[in-house]
Amino acid sequence: MPSLEERKTPVKNMRPSPQMIIKESPTQLAQEGVRILNAVSNDAVRRSGRCAIAVSGGSTPRRMHRILAEEPWISNLPWEKIHIFWVDERCVPEWDPASNYGIAKDDFLRHVPVPKSQVHPMPADLAPQAGAKKYARELTDFFHLKPGLFPAFDLIFLGMGLDGHTASLFPGQKALNETDKLVAAVKGGDPYVNRLTLTLPVLKMGRRIVFLVSGKQKAPVVAHIFKEGEPFLPVQKIRPEAGSVTWIMDREAASVLLRDEKDE
Ligand code: 6PG
Repeated sequence: MPSLEERKTPVKNMRPSPQMIIKESPTQLAQEGVRILNAVSNDAVRRSGRCAIAVSGGSTPRRMHRILAEEPWISNLPWEKIHIFWVDERCVPEWDPASNYGIAKDDFLRHVPVPKSQVHPMPADLAPQAGAKKYARELTDFFHLKPGLFPAFDLIFLGMGLDGHTASLFPGQKALNETDKLVAAVKGGDPYVNRLTLTLPVLKMGRRIVFLVSGKQKAPVVAHIFKEGEPFLPVQKIRPEAGSVTWIMDREAASVLLRDEKDE
C-alpha cells in the first residue's frame, strides 16, 4: 500500500509543481483545509491586517465549512479580520439549494462571528452580465485596484468537476480565454444555469490556492491531470503567478494516481 504523504513531486505539465497532500478520508481532507485556512488567515492578518478568502461551491467544501462552524474554530479564527468572497455562484435565489452563498451561510457563515459587511456574495439576483460587472467593481474597490490589475486573494479554495472544470470555468468555453475581466458570466455545469465566475487571471493571482478533491469518481481525472503533457483542462490552467498550489485529496480521489505510480 503506498504511504499517504505530503510531497512535492515534479509534475511535468505543471510548473511550479503543486504540493500534493493525500488524506485517508474526506473528514481528514476537510480538517487539512481548516488547518491551512487557520495558518494562512493568521499570517495574512499579521502581515496586512486582514485576510481575503475566496471559497467554492459544490459538495466537497461543505465538510470543511461545517468544521469551521464548530469550536475551537468559532473562537480561534480571526473572523473579525476575515473577508469571504466566492470563486463562483449559480444565478439562483439564495434559498435555492444550488446557491453557493445560501449553502455556505447555512453551513458556517451564520454560526461564526464574521461581520456581515465582510461577507461578499456574488450578486446572483442581477442579469448575469450586470452581476459580473457589479462583482468586478466590488473587487476593484476592496483591493484598491488600478485599471488592468488583478486582485491577489490570500487564499482561494477550488474544487474540480469530473470534466476538469474549476470555479465555473468549463472546458471549451470562451470565459477560459478571458484576459481583462475579473468576473465572467457563463452558462454551464450541473445544475445547468447561468453562473458568475472569477476569471483565470484572478484565480492565478492567489497567494495560496488550495484544491479540495474527494471521491472515487474523480480518481481518473486526477490521474489524467497529473500525467498528461498538454494542460487542456481548466484545472490545469491554474498556474499561479507568484503563489503556490496545494492539492488536498482523499485516498479515493488519489487512488488511480497511487495505483499507477505503484505499477510504474
Ligand atoms: C460550483 C463550483 C465547482 C465545484 C466543482 C466540484 O459548481 O459552484 O465551485 O467548480 O467546485 O464542480 O464540485 P463538487 O465538490 O460537488 O464535486
